[in-house]
Parts: sequence; structure tokens; C-alpha cells
Amino acid sequence: MFGFRAVSSIVALCFAVAVKAMPSSDATIGSGLAAKVFPPIPDFSGASWIWTTTQGLTGVPPGTSTFRLTIPSDTTLGPSANISVAISVDNAYNLYLNGKLIGSGLDFSQPNIWTINNVPTTQPWVFAILATNYAVALNDPTVNPAGIIASFVASSMSTQQAKFWSTGPAPNPQWKGTDFAPVDFWGTTLDDSAWPAAVVLAPFGGGPWGTPVPGPASLCV
Ligand SMILES: *[C@@H]1O[C@H](CO)[C@@H](O)[C@H](O)[C@H]1NC(C)=O
Repeated sequence: MFGFRAVSSIVALCFAVAVKAMPSSDATIGSGLAAKVFPPIPDFSGASWIWTTTQGLTGVPPGTSTFRLTIPSDTTLGPSANISVAISVDNAYNLYLNGKLIGSGLDFSQPNIWTINNVPTTQPWVFAILATNYAVALNDPTVNPAGIIASFVASSMSTQQAKFWSTGPAPNPQWKGTDFAPVDFWGTTLDDSAWPAAVVLAPFGGGPWGTPVPGPASLCV
């Protein structure tokens, strides 16, 4: 996992905005009104590292895994929502929403925040992640773990409501994950009903990853 140093994210459609990560007030999906900072900015408190059924804490072979999460259509926030995603992946990722590439990262110790504005709530939100575990670095004392951690805030300015969820155990929604990359794994029409559930490895702060702080935020048009 170590040995590949910071390379900044590389997505033309997103640009940095001057916002710093702050703790969200509640990390539970459907938690309703959010206080103080609006819209709230996602962080990893309450999130957990996940991986596929290949146990990710140690000894993960180099390779590519894919993950998917479908959030059912829910119009309680209003007709559209702004979605912010804080994400860190050991080692590299592409993040997709509804078939579109949102952002990429190459350093788990420098998590990103991606914001996508005015996403319709009248259709499901399909999140997909392509996650690549690099070959073990010679000086890696943890012998090549692999993991994903992500937190989400969907908010509406007009209703001043937000909902929150993260990678992690229930009541967070269940990600699915496989150790290969099927054709169109990022798409909205792929049938992932037979995919295995992703496995929770450790809460934020546990495992070998420390407590990386997400940010700055990038706005994706
Ligand atoms: C999304 O953010 C933009 C910019 O802050 C704002 O104008 C818009 O109202 C927001 N949309 C929703 C659905 O909250």
C-alpha cells in the first residue's frame, strides 16, 4: 500500500472549491435535519473501511476490484439533491455516479471530497468504484492491505434537509464488491443482484490506515 506518493486527482470536470472538511453532525442514513453548516460536508467519522470477500486487512494480491451501491429513488429531499462524497481507497480508485466518472485518487492518505450538484432524486443513484490494489511495496510493514472508506451527504438547499450514509455496517446501506471488473460495472443497468456483499474491515481509525482527513472539496459539473 505504501510507496506510491501523492498524485493529485485528474478529472477535468471537477474543480477545487475553498471548503474544509468539518465533522458532520450525524453519520446515519435518513437522519433528517442537519444543524449549523449547511450543506454539511462529509467526513469519515462513523464510517468503516470495507473490501470484497477477499479479506482486505493484509495479504491482498495486487489487482482490480469493483464495488457498487444503489440508493433507491427518494424524493423527500426535493426534486434534486447535491451529493458530496468523501472517499479514500488503498491504493487507487475511480468513482462513478449513474454511469459517469466523478473523480479519481491515487493516495489513501490524501482523501478527496467530490460534490455533484442537482442530481435528480426521481431515479436511483448508482455509485460504482473501481479500486486497484498495488503490488506490495518493499518497505510496507503491513504487508499489503486494501480498503475503501467513503461518506456521503445528499442535501437540498430548498428544503434545508440532508441525509447521510457511509461505507460500514447497518444502518448504512450495503455495498457489493467483486475481485474483477465486469463490463459496464459502472453502469446503471448492470444486474448486480448476484454480487457478494462487501465486507466491513475496521472502523475509521482502525486497521493500518490511520485517520486521513478528506479535502479540499472539488465541485463536479
Ligand atoms: C446545489 O448547490 C448550488 C450551489 O451552492 C445551489 O445553488 C443549489 O441550490 C444546490 N441544489 C440543491 C438541490 O440543493
